Amino acid sequence: MKIEKVFPIEIFSFQYDQLDELPMLVNFIENNITHQVSIGMTQGDLHKRDETQNLVKFFNNSLEQYKNYYEYDCERISITSMWGNMTDAFSGDRHHQHKHPLSFVSGVFYLTEGSSTMFFNPTNFDMFHVWKTNNNYEYENVPKVGELILFPSTLQHCTKPHTSGNHRHTISINTIPAGKVNQYAEDKATTWEIEVK
Ligand SMILES: [Fe+2]
Repeated sequence: MKIEKVFPIEIFSFQYDQLDELPMLVNFIENNITHQVSIGMTQGDLHKRDETQNLVKFFNNSLEQYKNYYEYDCERISITSMWGNMTDAFSGDRHHQHKHPLSFVSGVFYLTEGSSTMFFNPTNFDMFHVWKTNNNYEYENVPKVGELILFPSTLQHCTKPHTSGNHRHTISINTIPAGKVNQYAEDKATTWEIEVK
């Protein structure tokens, strides 16, 4: 038997160095929780708020590196929504398995430690959703304070139940390829241009 490993899924990790800002951001999220979807969530406009502008710069810089790594034919990857999540200490609450529709690249930024984010191999879950008897279909990312992870929005993920004694805080983003997209493509039918306000 011969096996070729093709088209690996890559999860990028970036470290924010302005950790002294994080307590302010934790407070900001706690004061802006508007609804509960198994965990507390804010509205999706955090990228437009004054309090997050240093963080948004870091996110945009990370997205630029992601774009350059893949040599995507777009001018930038723009944030379309950005929201805060809060899971109570000792609650055992978790975010169910999901992916992010209408987004290109998604990100999670860890403001605190807490339960892991789990990612699932899409070849196991598309049509037949067959579990394996080993755990080779999943990848666990243990939150590190100040870490941003970026991943394809189609990648299924969830969080493990949060059981430790601190509230778990994260900020998530969705994005879209923006500016002139596919401007160098031979097939001009694939060229488009969009600006995110
Ligand atoms: Fe998510």
